[in-house]
This record gives sequence, structure tokens and C-alpha cells, in this order.
Amino acid sequence: MLIVKNAASLDFSFVPGNLPAREAELEMLRNIIMEPLKSGVSSTIIIYGPSGTGKTVTAKYLLRSDPKIITVYENALSFGSLKSLLVDVLLKMGKVVQDKGVTYQQIFRILKGQISQNDGKMLVVIDEASGIMKSDPEGFYNLIRAEELYSAKLSCILISIDDPTTYLTGKQRRAFGVFSSIRFRPYSEAELEMIVDDRARTSLHSGSYTQSIISEIAQIASRFGSARVAIELLQKSAYLAQSNGTDAITPEDVRSAKALINPYVTESKLSDLNTDELIVLMAICRNLFDNPETDISSTYSTARIIAETHDYDVPDLQKIYRVTSKLESVGMIDSRISGKGDRKGVSKSIFVNDIPVKVLFEKIDDMISKAR
Ligand SMILES: Nc1ncnc2c1ncn2[C@@H]1O[C@H](COP(=O)(O)OP(=O)(O)OP(=O)(O)O)[C@@H](O)[C@H]1O
Ligand SMILES: [Mg+2]
Repeated sequence: MLIVKNAASLDFSFVPGNLPAREAELEMLRNIIMEPLKSGVSSTIIIYGPSGTGKTVTAKYLLRSDPKIITVYENALSFGSLKSLLVDVLLKMGKVVQDKGVTYQQIFRILKGQISQNDGKMLVVIDEASGIMKSDPEGFYNLIRAEELYSAKLSCILISIDDPTTYLTGKQRRAFGVFSSIRFRPYSEAELEMIVDDRARTSLHSGSYTQSIISEIAQIASRFGSARVAIELLQKSAYLAQSNGTDAITPEDVRSAKALINPYVTESKLSDLNTDELIVLMAICRNLFDNPETDISSTYSTARIIAETHDYDVPDLQKIYRVTSKLESVGMIDSRISGKGDRKGVSKSIFVNDIPVKVLFEKIDDMISKAR
């Protein structure tokens, strides 16, 4: 069965047709950078925020939005200095310049020439800029003040994880003048759900996933507020399902994908658990083979069956409650209290995010059998 219909759109470098949950940021960037640039006013802006918050994709999206503006994207990690980065910008505009011995004045003079040939509108995005900003403040001074110093009209978007004003000295800050910055917040679970939903639609065959798979991915990724984690989970679960030959992504595929992303050592944790705890954990895992979550009463019935088949004392409900809380406190399982609408009160949903439950089930089964 084929799950993936468009592999390219699961790739990190893919720029989707719309960016859910970043509309406000895009609007700000348009107002601060794009509109002024169209009327010949250059400016610099910094985008900063944690990994996976869409900084790169938002900047790339913006770069594509106006064909009348010449745009260049550079990742600063590929360059030792801002000078060699700018030499590459020139190269991308068709000007070959020797890196060695070239001065900022020469670079910006050539850049200015190229910009005016192109109607005077140019935007450069420098991604992962913090290292180069720290090591080459002089270069940045030249870049940010390019208009005053060399009358080169060049707008610039700098991207970094942390707020650059925290590592600029007071003197540098005054020299650089004021420039705007936008902080990209970690995504909420609801926002991640929109992002994953949107991406699943463009990359996977309809019918190969359910809404609860999307929610599960969003929920795991929300711990990090990261769309990077979310998209990677979507991609890995899709390929796992495809290689298993199933028609659709299962909760187990998502858990296995999670394990691939963030390998989780369980053996030492398991060896700390007593038999009751191992049996309850096994029961929870068994219930999660085909469901994203389970509850106390299903855990109770499954635990009784497992205890009987292994010739252990059958636990009572009280014990299930107690052991479940213990497992949660040591981080083996997660739970969520959810309202039950029609039924009275609330119930506790139990789930396991970090570990593929089949693997865990077999591991415990093995431990218990050996112990006998
Ligand atoms: N609002 C969004 N809508 C759709 N996809 C998004 C959105 N935000 C991020 N993504 C996707 O999530 C992944 C990570 O985003 P991106 O690379 O832009 O994060 P980043 O903030 O640059 O992270 P890092 O600091 O690690 O480079 C990419 O695959 C990107 O396409
Ligand atoms: Mg990035």
C-alpha cells in the first residue's frame, strides 16, 4: 500500500503553499521589510526563536512572495566570515570576486552596482546568523549600515535562535542603531495540529491516516513547541507504515517514529520496577497496540489476564490505581484527565509517547519469563 503521495513535501527544505499559525509574523515582515523595500527604503530585521518554530520556512516563504525583489538566501554556517558570505551573495548575482584581501568597501560597491541594475530592490536572508554576528561585529556594522556607508540599498533578515541583543555590547548596539526583531514563539498543540494536518493533506494519500494520528503527532511535538519534530514524526511514521505494508499509519508507527527521533533508554528504568508494576505496564502496552490511549478499567482487565497467564497474583483495582500513579511518576507512562460528557465525572486517559509499545511489551514479557 502506498501512504506517501508527495515525498518532496515531507522534506525539511520544502516550503508549503501556506503557513498556518505564522500569518501574523508574515504580515509583520511584509510591513517592516517588503513594503518599505518596494518604495526604496531598506531595513534590517532579526527573527529569533527556538528550533522548529518556522523561522527558516517563513523567511523562505517571504522570499518567494515578490518576484520584483531580488532575493538571496544564505546559511551563515557555511561561511567562516561575513565577508566570504557576501562574496557568495555576489557570486549568486553573477559577480565573481576574490575572497582574499577584498574590503567591505569593494564588496558593497559591487553589490550596489548589481542592486541598481536590478531596479534597486534587494533582500538578503542570513540564516543561523548568531555565530557570525558574534565573531564579526564589524562586518555586521557594515551590513546594517550599508545604506549610509556605501549608499547600497539592501534589506536584510537575520535569523538566530537566541535574541541577538543579549550578546551585543552596549557600544555595538548603539553603533548598529535600532533594528526591529520578531520573536517566534514555540507552537501550541493546536497550532501544531493545524500544521501537521495541512502537511498530511499535501503529502499523504487520503485515507492513509486518521485525525487521531494527527492529534497524537501534534501532542508529542507540543512538548517541544516544534514543527520540526512534528513534520519529522509525520514523515517517519508514514514511511514506517509504508514499509510495514499497512493501509494506514497506526499509533504504533507514531511511537516507533518517536523512538527513532529521540532514542529512549528503557532497560535501566525497567529494572527498577517490581513485578506488579511490570504487569500493569505490560497491560497498558497491550491496550495501546491499536489505540492511542487507554484507561484504568481496560488496564485492569488486561492486567488480570496477563497475571493469570504468567501465574502471578491477580491485582485488584486499588493496586492498578496505585501502580499507574507510580509508573507515571517515574515517567514510564503519561496520563490526561478528560471529561466524559455523557458519563458522570471525568476519566483518566493513559498513554505512552516515548516508546514503541510492542517492543516494550516483548521486553517485559521476556524479563518476567526469565524471572520465573
Ligand atoms: N507555520 C508552519 N506551517 C507549516 N510548516 C511549518 C510551519 N512552521 C514550521 N514548519 C515546518 O517545520 C519544519 C521546521 O521549520 P523551520 O526549519 O522553519 O524551523 P526553524 O525555526 O528554522 O528551526 P531551526 O532553528 O532548528 O532551524 C520545516 O519542515 C517547516 O516546513
Ligand atoms: Mg532554521
